[in-house]
Amino acid sequence: MNLTIPGPKGLPISGNLLAFRRDPLGFLQEAAREHGDIVHFRFGPQRHIYLLTNPDHIKEVLVSKQAHFRKAKGLQVAKVVVGEGILTSEGKKHLRQRRLMQPAFHRERIASYGQTMVDHALVMMDQWRDQEERNIHDDMMKVTLAIITETMFGKGLKQDTDKIGQAIEVGLHYVSTKASSFIDIPLSVPTRSNVRFREAAEMLDKAIYDIIDERRKREGEGRTDLLAMLLAARDEDDGTGMTDQQVRDEVMTIFLAGHETTANTMSWIWYLLATHPEAEQKLHSELQEVLGGRPPVVDDIPRLSYVNQIITEAMRLYPAAWAISREVVDEVEIGGQKFQPGETLMMSQYVMHRNPKYYENPDQFIPERFAGDLLKKLPSFAYFPFGGGPRVCIGNNFALMETALLLSTIAQRFRIRLAHPDRPVEPEPLVTLRPKNGLQVVLEKRP
Ligand code: HEM
Repeated sequence: MNLTIPGPKGLPISGNLLAFRRDPLGFLQEAAREHGDIVHFRFGPQRHIYLLTNPDHIKEVLVSKQAHFRKAKGLQVAKVVVGEGILTSEGKKHLRQRRLMQPAFHRERIASYGQTMVDHALVMMDQWRDQEERNIHDDMMKVTLAIITETMFGKGLKQDTDKIGQAIEVGLHYVSTKASSFIDIPLSVPTRSNVRFREAAEMLDKAIYDIIDERRKREGEGRTDLLAMLLAARDEDDGTGMTDQQVRDEVMTIFLAGHETTANTMSWIWYLLATHPEAEQKLHSELQEVLGGRPPVVDDIPRLSYVNQIITEAMRLYPAAWAISREVVDEVEIGGQKFQPGETLMMSQYVMHRNPKYYENPDQFIPERFAGDLLKKLPSFAYFPFGGGPRVCIGNNFALMETALLLSTIAQRFRIRLAHPDRPVEPEPLVTLRPKNGLQVVLEKRP
């Protein structure tokens, strides 16, 4: 423990754990405000955490000195679902998986998924009625799941996609409630949620292995979905590909990492537009000017500059990944301070993105702030919704394309109003930052 580093006072045994759990975002913001670049706090008697709030220090951890760290323990629970996929593996194993998967996420490659994204938005809206009240967060979860399922497996699956979707939901729900719970009940104990999870996991495993099996038998069919990319990937050095189990782990990883994050981002966008009619108006004008009523295609995205500013600003205020952590593996110096193995360094997108040092009126939704070259002028880790360094989000282009296409397809047809404008919508920082209790809205069909 580094005694020279300041931090908020804690209780004798639990340290700062209770204060953090009561209000994680408020706790971190206040810690940063009161104690400066590096803040020490303690979860329980032994766990020492250091919050970094200087972008240069964050860069050291994620980029220049990343070899001294590994992902912090919080991710271990995810392993029951994603195994040793790219999100949870370390060192050489991670590097190999990252190299194998990278081509599947290249900008040109994923551009072919644009149509699927728009199509699913259109199908979803066929169910929507004028003046209807809905929880649009549920809709965003459903539509992003449908999109990732189709981009992963393609069309025409023999397996029941609804069942696969439900099993994935159960798996994801299990990881997020377990990761946010402080009571650790082993999977072998037959609680209701454990049994439900195990049944879903078994069903899902069987379905995914069946699909992999069929595909391996019919390789060379010219399919272009993500699964085809994973199956075709070969190591540059030794020419080997992934085993069935690795492919299964990566399929689950992509579902876990790419589904709820994107859905949350969309929900926050709807919330922000509903509470900022002038921004919504400006968005409608841009959509009319660029698209003139037709559904968007990928090539439109660079011309939809206000759409892009809205997304950048929404991810600033409500970053779906609100904090990331790393555990020290061997002694390392960051910002002139030494850190020991086992200590945890935490970096919070939520805290950095609302720091008045980098953003004027940091709590206000002002998409126009990104109209110029602000992103270029900011220090590199004052804005980092997708992390950075060798473990930067592999799906960042996928996510940006999906949010741009969903936003411009849906906003052309519907205005989204809050059903209860007087009720505050609070961010709930679980594994991802989501609107607490969803987002209840009224749909208004646009003329
Ligand atoms: C707005 C949506 C998204 C946000 C905010 C987001 C954010 C992040 C962040 C911050 C990380 C780094 C975590 C760390 O360093 O500890 C990450 C990693 C990752 N993300 Fe995303 N993500 C999003 C969407 C997606 C999508 C759509 C996919 C896949 C289709 C995806 C797949 C991944 C994977 C596989 C990793 C692990 C990369 C590695 O460790 O090498 N993400 N994401």
